[in-house]
Amino acid sequence: MSDQLALDGGTPIRSTPFPQVGDASGRTLGEEEAQAAAAVVRSGRLNLTVGEQTRELEREFADYYGVGHAVASTSGTAAIHLAVAAVNPEPGAEIITTGISDAGTIMPILAQNAIPVFADVDANTGNLDVESVRALISDRTCAIIAVHLFGCPAPVTELRELADAHGITLIEDSAQAYLTRTDPDGALAGTVGHIGCFSLQQSKHITAGDGGLTITDDDQLARRARLFADKAWPRDTGERTHLFLGLNYRMTELQSAIARIQLTRLAGVVQRRRERAEELTAVLSELPGLEPAPSRGHSYWQFPVFVDEHTAGGDAFRYAEALVAEGIPATGGYITRPLYLTPVLTEAQTYGTSGYPLAQARQEYAPGLCPVTESLINGRLLVIAWNEQYTSGDVADIAAGLRKVHAASHG
Ligand SMILES: Cc1ncc(COP(=O)(O)O)c(C=O)c1O
Repeated sequence: MSDQLALDGGTPIRSTPFPQVGDASGRTLGEEEAQAAAAVVRSGRLNLTVGEQTRELEREFADYYGVGHAVASTSGTAAIHLAVAAVNPEPGAEIITTGISDAGTIMPILAQNAIPVFADVDANTGNLDVESVRALISDRTCAIIAVHLFGCPAPVTELRELADAHGITLIEDSAQAYLTRTDPDGALAGTVGHIGCFSLQQSKHITAGDGGLTITDDDQLARRARLFADKAWPRDTGERTHLFLGLNYRMTELQSAIARIQLTRLAGVVQRRRERAEELTAVLSELPGLEPAPSRGHSYWQFPVFVDEHTAGGDAFRYAEALVAEGIPATGGYITRPLYLTPVLTEAQTYGTSGYPLAQARQEYAPGLCPVTESLINGRLLVIAWNEQYTSGDVADIAAGLRKVHAASHG
């Protein structure tokens, strides 16, 4: 194999595609899902008000996670919206969260007329830094949303203590973190906070195309979340009335039938992702300047690598570009800019031209707000696409690509 980088005209490490989440090659969707979906169609009961799939999924998911309640919805964003709506913030109340996540973490905050306040993250994981969160808590704070980035456990045990000490709610965004185990007690991510939220979007550990699940042990939060997803219509009372402002976020029976089968595959999916991740983690210890996230509890939605530009001989963008040329799927930075530097916040593009509720924001959504977050997005964070269908051979190719780029960066 040529040492010359494919970027510079050398032979790529890999010429065949990796299994990927955008099609069947990197998904665990099979005949059982097809039959379950077909059975729903044949039954003629596609809506949860007439079928059983969604209620069964909710029960099975709650049991799987050992919690009292699970409420299904249409997406991960919706699952977080249910959680925020269950908290029922006063307009202008603050919710502390991270600037490095999918926008689905923050849109529900704005949709409920609350204000996102951004805390900085830990340089070695990309997850919320507890001290940064602590420093931002005020009498306007009503909740914290912690994201388990890429499946790496956020410090939710400490954040739960902090939340309880201030009488506020901890929401865990576990969209990327099925079966992640939290430090230090090893609880499942999503069960440590007051509410946990999951996504069934195409790229997640398990999928129904789209879909969301909100879990909690709190009966009142569960009831509000459930009502919010169904126009606040208390169907169990027999009354056609609407108790507060709610939307229609009901999961369809088709999604639920598929998700129920996918749930039976989840443990295997996470196990395979972890086993393959161990193989790559071992290789990274030979490559100075390329640091994997701590493996403890990680469920590897993606495989993040923290790049020290000087030791590694290039930043995450340089590595991503070179790896892609070698045929290995990777990106630099994860998102283009921190969430607080996207127009929805910098230009307060919310409700008409009012800018509501951001005119009252205490933070200025400007560069420099969260320096560690920005350093990750601007060159320290290399994200290698990860998948339960990878073989050890696939991982060996990724390792060969990393070794090659590393060596070339030190020539
Ligand atoms: C961390 C995180 N939060 C929220 C979401 C939103 O989920 P969805 O795309 O299902 O709305 C996603 C998924 O993209 C995510 O990765």
